[in-house]
Amino acid sequence: MCGIVGYIGKNQAAPIVLDGLSKLEYRGYDSAGMAIFDGSKINITKSVGRLKVLQELTHDGATMPGNLGIGHTRWATHGAPSDVNSHPHFNEKGTIAVVHNGIIENYLPLKKKLESKGYHFISETDTEVLAHMLDYYYKGDPMGAIVKVLHRVEGSYALGILFSDFPGEMFAVRKDSPLIVGQSGEGCFIASDVPAILKYTRTVTYIDNQEIVRLTPEGLHIYNVDEEELEKESVTIDWDAEAAEKAGYEHFMLKEMYEQPKTVTDTISPRIRKNDIVIEELGMSDEDLLSVRKIHIVACGSAYHAGVTGKYVLEGLARIPVEVDLASEFRYRNPILEDGGMVVVISQSGETADTLAALRESKKRGFKVLGIVNVVGSSIAREADNVMYTWAGPEIAVATTKAYSAQLIALYLLALKLARVRHTVTEREFEGMLEDLGRLPDQIELLLNNKNRIQRFANRYIAAKDVFFIGRGIDYAISMEGSLKLKEISYIHSEAYAAGELKHGTISLIEEGTLVAAVSTQPSLYQKTISNMVEVKSRGAFVLAVTCEGNREIEKAADYVIYIPQTNPFFANSLAIIPLQLFSYYVAVGKGCDVDKPRNLAKSVTVE
Ligand code: AGP
Ligand code: GLU
Repeated sequence: MCGIVGYIGKNQAAPIVLDGLSKLEYRGYDSAGMAIFDGSKINITKSVGRLKVLQELTHDGATMPGNLGIGHTRWATHGAPSDVNSHPHFNEKGTIAVVHNGIIENYLPLKKKLESKGYHFISETDTEVLAHMLDYYYKGDPMGAIVKVLHRVEGSYALGILFSDFPGEMFAVRKDSPLIVGQSGEGCFIASDVPAILKYTRTVTYIDNQEIVRLTPEGLHIYNVDEEELEKESVTIDWDAEAAEKAGYEHFMLKEMYEQPKTVTDTISPRIRKNDIVIEELGMSDEDLLSVRKIHIVACGSAYHAGVTGKYVLEGLARIPVEVDLASEFRYRNPILEDGGMVVVISQSGETADTLAALRESKKRGFKVLGIVNVVGSSIAREADNVMYTWAGPEIAVATTKAYSAQLIALYLLALKLARVRHTVTEREFEGMLEDLGRLPDQIELLLNNKNRIQRFANRYIAAKDVFFIGRGIDYAISMEGSLKLKEISYIHSEAYAAGELKHGTISLIEEGTLVAAVSTQPSLYQKTISNMVEVKSRGAFVLAVTCEGNREIEKAADYVIYIPQTNPFFANSLAIIPLQLFSYYVAVGKGCDVDKPRNLAKSVTVE
């Protein structure tokens, strides 16, 4: 998530930090701040809002003199976007300043421990524990304190750190959040991404997990956690800034598809504790969960499709009836909400007008609403009674990929949690499913690495007029999302049908060569879907099948098969959607469409 920039050298730091942060604006953020060492003390200016606010507050950096500084653009994860939650964060004495990208997963026990030692917290962030912990362990040796902190924190982080006792040094460290360092004749730099410092240097070193960097005006030194200095090769960047913002990917959509293994891990791991699922944000005891009699899922677009999958998974695993509504329909149909009903709204942006209206309607009727939301501090996150965040990070491409994948995971976790409490799965089944969940990131990676084969296939369908996606059960839900992806970015008409329904009318549209993508991941339905594939094939369709490894029988009915790895059938959507996303993407690229900003669409739909 978001941006870090730091500078130490001959020049004024604040303008360089501000300039660097402006190059990271594409990452999406809600607040910005800087800490600059003025020769005797560290000064901090920070504010919620765009970088422009920080630029104005500091007169483009002029009010913050000094040759050493760190800056941050925040994409809130813990605590709403606000001045006090913005970074940098100080220790109480104002002698250690920290900027952080990522999430400290065990911040609550750490915070408790620090409070018992007399530390006071002023923000709601997870990051503030780092400032106080560094203070707690600091005995005149910054590296020693950093190493002690690293051994105690869990989660992901890229950190920039200043110690006022060390006016000629800046420190940085990372684990699972990006961090690069650069060097020029004018000084040294840290940044979350290359474009931030490209104007000043093209000599960059990529920092690996748990490496600590000490930077001085003359040069930089990289150490492992045993404080042994490492020899690392720097690279010379030869791309332009625009390409670098996309980390070398041609489009944000492709970059975001490639972030899915990490997104899935980030959404699962904070909620797994010792073979159990703990979703503190639900704010519901086991007793409350037992009293749920019906779940209403309300959302739009892809979030609605995630909800349809959620229905199958929640009903299948926890045996609770689930109704899924399009948010734009929900409040006008006078929905029947009864005691024991739980309303779940799903939204990436947290700003979708119809979803927000559905949330308000449910609350007005006295129902508690759980929001599954990606953007922290968004309207839906603020107004929902409880929020389960999907840790996908900022999503830039209009067509959602990684946020959708994270929504699926949130729903699986909810279903498994309910299933365990209600004893609708055995302990063995539960543990097996946790293992299956844990394998998803690597399996998604594997599918992404198959992109060339899908690209070759997609190139054959650039001129397609109509495409149909069919499937049964969960596979129908996947088909809906696959179909939406294709039409929104490639402008090819496509429809998703429950496989058994096609022959009730739509089959009349099948002509010689029409592409039908058949999704078949549910072993109990293999035979049924094969029959539907044969029906369309015998009417001239070209059948692309997406199925699980081992289902070789499908080759009899399909013209082209994409296999996904074996997983629990309830989780198959997370894998089957990957080739469908890649297919849509490459068709759109092949047609020369504006993949990241398709015509007529907006990333967040704030009108009804
Ligand atoms: C998905 O690719 C679309 N851009 C769109 O359907 C989207 O999912 C829908 O507008 C809902 O948005 P939200 O998740 O931000 O509420
Ligand atoms: N978890 C931190 C916060 O919420 C950092 C978020 C970020 O990466 O911007 O403040």
